[in-house]
Amino acid sequence: MRIEVVEGDITTLAVDAIVNAANESLLGGGGVDGAIHRAAGPGLLDECRALPEVRPGVRCPTGEARITGGHRLPARCVIHTVGPLWRGGDHGEPERLAACYANALQLASDLGLASIAFPAISCGVFGYPHAPAAAVAIGQLRDWSADLPERALLCSFGSDIAAEYRRLLAG
Ligand code: APR
Repeated sequence: MRIEVVEGDITTLAVDAIVNAANESLLGGGGVDGAIHRAAGPGLLDECRALPEVRPGVRCPTGEARITGGHRLPARCVIHTVGPLWRGGDHGEPERLAACYANALQLASDLGLASIAFPAISCGVFGYPHAPAAAVAIGQLRDWSADLPERALLCSFGSDIAAEYRRLLAG
């Protein structure tokens, strides 16, 4: 799989799927979640609200992924995943963050999607430090052996985590 680092707003990327760093309700929020819902329009929230709850208030448990259409976005689909809240690193955060990437890649592969863009999941409101988060992301992308997706973009909003991605990819 070809891995690329891009800097900018993930809502502008014309890829098969952009990944949303959501919360378990899938009913929107701030950060990239808010940006994606704003750009996609109200139809995205309607589609998310129609997804089944696995327990009251939870449509996507942490580490799992769900897929919807892209609505008004240039991307065909949105893969919603919920990253772990950073609590110091010894509460299963690395494993749950890795599951976000693996489950998003699996959904894209199952649906024959060729390109996928990831924001820095958990690195904003959820407080995951950039260096360990970038290591988890690149580790999962490098371990992915299926034919699809064939292209993964790591989208950094600003240059903050882009440098980490590039350092690890150069290594
Ligand atoms: N394009 C790309 N990346 C973005 C964008 C954007 N338009 N906006 C923000 N980001 C980046 C942030 O800079 C950060 O690096 O996305 C990364 C993830 O930050 P958050 O969006 O805060 O997501 P997260 O840390 O996973 O927290 C999720 O925040 O918005 C709520 O509903 C969401 O409760 C959930 C929580």
